[in-house]
Amino acid sequence: MAQSFLILTLLVAAIGLSFPARAASAEGATVYTTRCVVCHQSDGEGAPGLAPPLAGTLAKRAASDSGRKYFAQVLISGMVGTIKSRGMKFNGNMPTFAALPDQELAAAISYVLRTFNDVSEPFPIENFAAARAAALASADVSKLRARVIAEVGE
Ligand code: HEC
Repeated sequence: MAQSFLILTLLVAAIGLSFPARAASAEGATVYTTRCVVCHQSDGEGAPGLAPPLAGTLAKRAASDSGRKYFAQVLISGMVGTIKSRGMKFNGNMPTFAALPDQELAAAISYVLRTFNDVSEPFPIENFAAARAAALASADVSKLRARVIAEVGE
């Protein structure tokens, strides 16, 4: 009796612990599919002349503070200006997603990092409040990108 109660308690705790993570990852997939796929494609490979790849290109920046600040700026401030990714040039228009709540933005970028870049840690949500408080002109975000890549590598 005591034993089955213990098992039940552990089960409930395990479900309780795993649920928020799974809810966040389902939310990330939904935001990515509804907001990002049209340009960056379902495999995260982007499309030449339209949008850069998000697959296999973001792990180094995800591991650095300045890189994470940059990702939050891309979503809050958008980005214009010529950039290079995997040796290809892009000069498109990444729209701002500042209208979405921080939680959806964090879920989307966590999804991109986990699914396409093998980065399992969830993206820290507080980066978005910081980016909103210091939003940039979208042309300055591509300059920030160049500085961050010079610092941490591509
Ligand atoms: C209308 C097309 C479009 C949509 C929709 C879009 N993006 Fe982008 N994204 C771009 C373009 C274009 C760039 C590069 C901008 C440039 O050339 O300066 C970019 C750049 C990025 C970058 C920076 C990549 C790097 O190598 O530094 C990230 C991260 C990103 N987008 C994530 C997202 C996420 C997440 C979403 C959905 C919430 C999204 N994008 C929706 C077009 C789009």
